[in-house]
Amino acid sequence: MSDRFLLYGANGYTGSLIAHYGVQRGLQPILAGRNSQQLGTLAASLGLEYKAFSLEDTAAVDAALLDVAAVLHCAGPFSRTSKPMVEACLRTQTHYLDITGEVSVFEAIAALDAEAKSLGVMLLPGVGFDVVPSDCLAAHLKAQLPTATQLSLAFQAGQMSRGTATTMVENQHRGGLIRRGGVLTPVEAAWRTRAIDFGEGEVLATTIPWGDVSTAFYSTGIPDIEVYMAVESKTYWAMVASRYLGWLLGLDVIQDFQKRLIIAGAPGPTEAQRAQGKSRFWGEVLDPSGNRRVSLLQCPEGYTLTARTALAIIEKVLAGQVSPGFQTPSRVYGADLILEIEGVMRSDISG
Ligand SMILES: NC(=O)c1ccc[n+]([C@@H]2O[C@H](COP(=O)([O-])OP(=O)(O)OC[C@H]3O[C@@H](n4cnc5c(N)ncnc54)[C@H](OP(=O)(O)O)[C@@H]3O)[C@@H](O)[C@H]2O)c1
Repeated sequence: MSDRFLLYGANGYTGSLIAHYGVQRGLQPILAGRNSQQLGTLAASLGLEYKAFSLEDTAAVDAALLDVAAVLHCAGPFSRTSKPMVEACLRTQTHYLDITGEVSVFEAIAALDAEAKSLGVMLLPGVGFDVVPSDCLAAHLKAQLPTATQLSLAFQAGQMSRGTATTMVENQHRGGLIRRGGVLTPVEAAWRTRAIDFGEGEVLATTIPWGDVSTAFYSTGIPDIEVYMAVESKTYWAMVASRYLGWLLGLDVIQDFQKRLIIAGAPGPTEAQRAQGKSRFWGEVLDPSGNRRVSLLQCPEGYTLTARTALAIIEKVLAGQVSPGFQTPSRVYGADLILEIEGVMRSDISG
C-alpha cells in the first residue's frame, strides 16, 4: 500500500495550514485542488508534488487516488464537495478523511457504512476541530458513566476562516438540530440556552446544529444529545431573529451578498492570533438516576487544533491503523486520542 496521502483543497486556508504543518512533521502530501496556479505556488514553496483537477472530473479524481492510501479532504462546504470524493474513494478503495462539521454530510457518509466495510475502506469524516475533541470528550464521559442517557457538549472558539463562515451562511436558514430518542430532531435556531463554565466562569451558550449531534450518537449510543456554542448576547439575538427571517436568509441574493462580505475579509486568523488563541470544550452526561459527570478540555486555537488532529489521524492511517466502514474519531482511536495532541489538557469535574 502507498504511504502517501492526497490533500484536496490544499490551497484553502485550512488545507494550506495542514500542508505547512504536515511538512514540519516530515509528511509529503500530494497537494490537490481545482486552482492550478495557487497549488503550484504552494507546492513549490513546500517542495511538494501537486495535481489540479475538479471534483466533476471523475476520471481525474480516480487517477489521483490510485497513487495514495488516503485522502484528507479539506475543500468545503462539504455538502457540495464530499459526495464526489467519497464515491471516488469507494471506487478506488482509498481511505477517506475530511474536516467537515456538517450533520447532513456525516449522515450521508454513515449511510455508506456497509458498502465501505465490504470494500475495506474507512470513511472518517470530521477529523478537525469538529469533531475530534468533542467526540473524544463524549466517549470519555460515556466511559465515566456507562448508564448515561443524556449528553450535552459545548465549545468556545475564536475567529472563523472564510470557509467556515461560508459554510455557516449556507446553513443559517435551516434552524437547529438536536438528537432525541436516537433520532435527529429539528428545533428552532438558538432553541435552548445554558450558562456554561468552561473553566473561567460561566458564559452564555446556545444550541447549534453541530456535527456531534450526528457523530456522538455513533460513538456513545447515548440517545439524547445537544450541542452548545458560547455566544455573545448580540449573536444569540441574531440567531433568534433568524427563526423569523429564515426564508430571507435562504435566498441566493442574500447569501451571495453575505459571501461577498466574507471574501472581502481576512482568510482566517493570523499566525499571531492562532498562537495566542485557545479553544475550550465542556461535556456533561446524565443518567436516569440523576448521576452526572462533567469534563473539560482546554485546546489550542481552532485551526491549529484542526491541523494537529487531522495530521495525527492521517499518520495513524498511513501506519495502517484503520477500521473499515463509517467511523468516528473516538471509535477508531479511543477517547484519549485528543490527549496525544500538543497543547491539550483534560480535566474531570465532579458530578
Ligand atoms: N470541522 C472543522 O473543524 C473545520 C475546521 C476548518 C475548516 N473547516 C471547513 O473546511 C472547509 C474549508 O475551510 P477553509 O477555511 O480552508 O476555507 P477556504 O479558505 O475558503 O478554502 C476553501 C477550499 O475549498 C475549495 N473548494 C470549495 N468548493 C469547492 C468545489 N466545489 N470543488 C473543489 N474545491 C472547492 C476551495 O478551492 P478554490 O480556491 O478553487 O475555490 C479552497 O481550496 C469549510 O467548509 C470549513 O467549514 C472545518
